[in-house]
Amino acid sequence: MLEHFFSPSSVAVVGASQKPGKIGHDILNNILRYGYSGAVYPINPNAREILGHKAYHNLASVHYDIDLAVIAVPPAGVMDVVEQCGKKKIDSAVIITAGFKEIGPEGTRLEEELSMRARDLGVRIVGPNCLGIVDTASSLNASFAAGMPLPGHIGFFSQSGAMCVAILDWALGENVGFSRFVSLGNKMDISETEMMLSMAQDENTRVILGYLESIEDGQHFMKAAREVTKTKPVIIIKSGTTSSGAKAASSHTGALVGSNHAFCAAFEQSGVIRAESTQELFSYAMAFANQPLPKGPGLAIITNSGGPGILAADACDRSSLHLIPIRKETADRLREFLPPTASVYNPIDIIGDAPHERYEKTLEVVLKDEMIHAVLVLLTPTAAVDPEAVARGIVELAADVDKPIMTVFMGERRVRGARKIFQDHSIPTYGYPEDAIAAMDAMLSYRRWRERSEIEYQRFEVDRSKVRKIFASVIKQHRHDLIESEARRILKTYGFRLPESRIARTTKEAVKAASEVGYPVVMKIASPDVLHKSDMGGVRVGIENEAMAKDAFFHITSNMQLRQPRARILGVMVQEMISQGREVILGITRDIQFGPMIMFGLGGIYVEVLKDVAFRIAPLSVEEADAMIRDIRSFPLLRGVRGEPAADIEGIRDALLRLSQMAIDFPEIIEADINPLLVCPEGRGAVAVDARITIQE
Ligand code: COA
Repeated sequence: MLEHFFSPSSVAVVGASQKPGKIGHDILNNILRYGYSGAVYPINPNAREILGHKAYHNLASVHYDIDLAVIAVPPAGVMDVVEQCGKKKIDSAVIITAGFKEIGPEGTRLEEELSMRARDLGVRIVGPNCLGIVDTASSLNASFAAGMPLPGHIGFFSQSGAMCVAILDWALGENVGFSRFVSLGNKMDISETEMMLSMAQDENTRVILGYLESIEDGQHFMKAAREVTKTKPVIIIKSGTTSSGAKAASSHTGALVGSNHAFCAAFEQSGVIRAESTQELFSYAMAFANQPLPKGPGLAIITNSGGPGILAADACDRSSLHLIPIRKETADRLREFLPPTASVYNPIDIIGDAPHERYEKTLEVVLKDEMIHAVLVLLTPTAAVDPEAVARGIVELAADVDKPIMTVFMGERRVRGARKIFQDHSIPTYGYPEDAIAAMDAMLSYRRWRERSEIEYQRFEVDRSKVRKIFASVIKQHRHDLIESEARRILKTYGFRLPESRIARTTKEAVKAASEVGYPVVMKIASPDVLHKSDMGGVRVGIENEAMAKDAFFHITSNMQLRQPRARILGVMVQEMISQGREVILGITRDIQFGPMIMFGLGGIYVEVLKDVAFRIAPLSVEEADAMIRDIRSFPLLRGVRGEPAADIEGIRDALLRLSQMAIDFPEIIEADINPLLVCPEGRGAVAVDARITIQE
């Protein structure tokens, strides 16, 4: 996949220049100086030779096959060069040139034309507006980056060229190697998804790293990422926000969602590890590229000082790692050589006067304990210790073990040499314990992701034609918002449990309906024009008898006449009142990049004030529905506190799965709320009390 980009037999540089400092010169120079062994053809209409290589006027005048063209001519000339590529059957091109989509409408038009033409000609494109690409296995540096990454196992792609430059500089400084290094630019043709898939197939790439500002096709990315992450970790840092969350929203769900929610959900549901900062991207990259995954959560910390040990233990507490108690056999072995003042509990404190031999012996014993799945070695440079000797000892012991080892040597001047030793031997080393723990935690989560069982989707039998009919009639009436009775019919079709209810147009009908439904009842206005019924005085709860029913009917209808006299009134809905339920809210919204999103939260202040909600992208699997219920901070309230019965979690899960299916079945639903879904005590299900659905043709 994309082989001609990464291991071409021949490369042409169109716009190659004799003048140092010009991009076309630098690219050619990079291709020639880092050992690329294929044929290289500089293309320039005015030169006969560039950097010792015969130059050609154009691509057609090269009488050999060319696998890859790197294009660095001004924007106005790019289309012609792509035409030449097509004629010469060059199927891969990297367009360095800027001045396309990123500059506005004129550039966008140019890029669209270019994209269509390239597709017709069968020329695949990386860029435009990019820094270029590098493959260390074929020693190809087809970029104008200042330097060549060291060979290694990290595949990196980035939407930002500047980020490429920064990462490369960091990597050279830290001795971190790369398999491939790709600047995606405007992603006119080859997207992050295709690049990720190609890196997944590259045998030199063990870890895939990405910097993204946007994702072209969210659902396609998720599907691909789910596959790739089964075998290789994908770590992505995402910056920037889209306007999807800022649009005016009429539903709760729409108002609560931001594009960040969509990315978090998409990454979580497809096993992508998200780095929150560049720093985190680097620390994760170091860990994943060089260390085996921990087989379990058991972590041991070895330290020569209390403070950093406690910091590490605190960070561990906030993670899914487990600072496991050291078992007796191991503790006894440690006691054989540790001073009596040392602590053989976890963190294992070998105290301030520990020389390097004490570190080595301790690490050796700890690594042999199969309950310990990962080790973090902390060191503060006391006068008693030679940090470099400790580093050498760790490197030696780490060579034969299948457990991740990370190091935090605190300080700077006295630990510099030790850090260099770790970098040279691919042992992840960090400045602070928290960073090491975060990286180890990410590795453990990834391992769990890989070990999880296949995703299961549950489908319910639904007569979709009924829903289609309702939508057709709503559209015919030039409406977007469904009235409650329509929304209820749809929920019913999808198997939701609904409270018993009737529409009453007169006081007499209201009284009759209430006695049929059975007291106590709730009464609320039925109108396509009243969306916020309570705010308009359109809802009465706890109606216990006939007199109250009459009074409620009178007040609700009068309130409407007073506050929204133009609203079309269909009557008053008389509804069974569900007591003893916990109010939760479920919703659908649509993200521009990822499509249908499902929301869940506890009703009332939890959603409105605390915004304690969870989002996932539909379709939801059973596990994902469970995970989103557990994700909200107020989840313990659903399990029951202070003697209250636990809420029926299965009922919530069932409702989430049905809503997810609805969102997938009907893309015309752009927003929906079930607010509230009243969740009865365990075993008694959940009832969708009120719903709002907005559709778009
Ligand atoms: N075929 C072959 N060579 C061509 C050509 C064509 N169709 N059109 C121009 N050239 C030659 C020129 O003669 C020139 O050679 P010379 O130096 O010997 O005169 C060379 O290509 C470059 O053309 P020039 O007009 O001097 O452009 P430039 O070097 O100033 O700029 C780009 C060209 C591509 C670098 C510039 O348009 C650009 O896009 N710069 C920004 C790149 C960028 O930032 N990318 C994103 C990074 S993240």
